[in-house]
This record gives sequence, structure tokens and C-alpha cells, in this order.
Amino acid sequence: MAIVTIIGGQWGDEGKGKIIDHLAKNADLVARYSGGNNAGHTIENDYGKFALHLVPCGVGWEGTINLIGSGTVIDPDVLIDELELISKNSLPGEIFISEKAHMIMPYHIKLDQAEENDRGSEAVGTTGRGIGPAYSDKISRNGIRIGDLKDIDLLQKKISKNLNFKNKILREIYETEEISEKEIFEKIDNWQNKLSKYIANTEQIIHRNIEEKKFILLEGAQGALLDIDHGTYPFVTSSNTVASAAATGSGCGPNSINYVLGITKAYSTRVGEGPFPTELTDKVGKELGERGKEFGTVTSRKRRCGWFDGVLVRQTIKISGINGIALTKLDVLDELEEIKMCIAYEIKGKKINYLPASTDEQLNIKPCLLY
Ligand code: IMP
Repeated sequence: MAIVTIIGGQWGDEGKGKIIDHLAKNADLVARYSGGNNAGHTIENDYGKFALHLVPCGVGWEGTINLIGSGTVIDPDVLIDELELISKNSLPGEIFISEKAHMIMPYHIKLDQAEENDRGSEAVGTTGRGIGPAYSDKISRNGIRIGDLKDIDLLQKKISKNLNFKNKILREIYETEEISEKEIFEKIDNWQNKLSKYIANTEQIIHRNIEEKKFILLEGAQGALLDIDHGTYPFVTSSNTVASAAATGSGCGPNSINYVLGITKAYSTRVGEGPFPTELTDKVGKELGERGKEFGTVTSRKRRCGWFDGVLVRQTIKISGINGIALTKLDVLDELEEIKMCIAYEIKGKKINYLPASTDEQLNIKPCLLY
């Protein structure tokens, strides 16, 4: 029996999907525990090649249980499309969605875009999928959960109350179009019809599998440097992406997790804005991007590229209690004349070996490179 948490050790896109897909072959259960359709991975198996955003990688393997845990945020339309693709192609894994997972509503998507526009030159560069506003509602206790689909009357009341307030913000603060209640209400029946059979108390399922000493994978999304507490705040996502989130977002006890596997690229990439100490804006950075096919899976944006940052990965190892690392994309470096890596930082003449918290300091880091 083993429970393994798999996390990204950098800013996401480290190749988690490939490694998890490989390990999932022998897993009994795979659970997603955070994030939403801001994540994306492609799995390839006997049934074809599939780009998934929410459903765990284990879905391609016979006899595997796939859970979308309470720590995730779910856009019901995106999940329905994904489930239809899975069913059309007869992917064999079983799927369950936590009744506690929060829903991304159309007003969250609209607010995400309005907030980003409003930030102007200080935009985070979000994926625009409504992730931040959905998590904000969860934390401020105004969220709507997947389990709310069980009672449509009550659900409509909750939506009306929220929408009233959100439309006021859209109209009066952001001076943009409102979302119509009718537009959301028209979708609810479809959400209920298509999702109800998957909704479950997923903690019970995971606990049963722990008791039966099954092999469980807890599938992380994004990367440790996008963590809301420990990442390059405010240029981060709105959830915890470090390994400890695996216990909260899946419902298994932290002491039941046996191993934390960190996935890191042999160089660094990030999509969106924010400090990136080892970024290369020269010919080498361009080459890494081209050879590594560094384009975002969700937004198709070009990923920024740079040298491997040992300071950040070392910090991630400590914060997430990483036991082992899978290093990906080493071959992308093959044709470079010189390979460099960052082993320490220098800020205003002072050497440090950790990521300082302030954006200003992060932007003033001079990486100490070994080559
Ligand atoms: P959000 O999660 O859409 O709010 O985006 C916040 C930040 O996280 C942005 O810089 C995104 O580009 C980044 N981000 C979110 N999800 C991913 C991912 O799966 N891979 C890489 N970057 C991501």
C-alpha cells in the first residue's frame, strides 16, 4: 500500500500529466485535490490522446477510481464536455466528484476578466477561467457547491442572491455587462442531469481505499511557486499547490501519505506575469521555448523560459517535504553549448539562499549561476 502525492516543483507545466499517467497504470485510485480548469494535461493511451482539465489521469486505465476532490473548483460546462469526451471514447476509469467541491459560475469568469482588466499593467495574467473569484466566494462563505445541484430551488435562491451582488460589482465598479439570471438558470437542469450520477462523498471512497491498503495517487495541479501562501504572491493562483494541500483537498489524513514526488523541469518556465529570477529573454530562452514546445495547454500563451533555479526547487523540497524528484525535459538542453543553473541569489550585494517574500525584492534578484 502506498499513498503518493505528486506536485509540480516550479511554476506548473513540469510534465506532471505524463508522470502521473504512467504511474496511474498501477494505481487503484487517483484524486485531484486542488485547482480547476486552469490546469491541463494530455494523456495518451490505447483509446487515443485526450486533453483533460479536471478529470484525473487515471481515467485511461481499467479498474481505476478517479476522484475530483473537495479542494477543487469546477466549471460545470467544462466538466460536462470532458465527461462526454470520456464516455464517447469509452475510457474505462470510474469517476466521482466531491459534493463539497465548489462551482465556477459564469459570474466568476466575468469577474476574473474584469478584475484583470482593472489591474492594467499589474495584471496577474490569470487563465481567465474564474478560478480566483470562485475561491474568493468559497473563503468568504458565499460559494456554491456541486452538492447544491441536489436541490434546484435552493440552488436558484443562492444564485439569485450572489448574482444580485456580483452584477452590482460588474455594473458599478467595473462598468461592464451584467450576467443574466435566466442565462444561468437555463443551464442548471443540464448540470443536474449530466453531473448527478457522479456526485459522491469522496472522502468515504478514499478512506475505504486506504483501509483496503490500495495504491493511491494524489494528483497536484499547477506548481509550488504558484501557491497562494508560498508562491510569488500576488502572481500566483488562488489555491494551495504545495503538498500539504493534498490532504485537505482530498480528505485523507496527512499521516496516511507515504511519499511526495516532485516533478521539475531541467530548466524553468512560467506562464503569466510575475517575478522570474532566472528568466532568459535572449536567444537561449527562445531556443528553450522552441525545443521544449513551451506553450500553455489552457491558454496557448508562450511560456517564459529560463535556467533551472536551485534556490526555488530547494525551497519547494523543504516546504512540500518532497522525498524524490522526477526531472523532465533534460533532452531539451541537449544542443546548448553551455548549461547554467542558479545556486544562490544576490540582492543589493547580499547573498541569500531563499525566495524573499516581497515582489520588489523578487524583481531585484541577481541569480548566482553555476556553469
Ligand atoms: P489563475 O489560476 O487562472 O487565477 O491564474 C493565476 C496564475 O497562475 C497565472 O499566472 C496563470 O498563468 C498561472 N497558472 C494557473 N494555472 C496554471 C497551470 O496549470 N500551469 C501554469 N501556470 C498556471
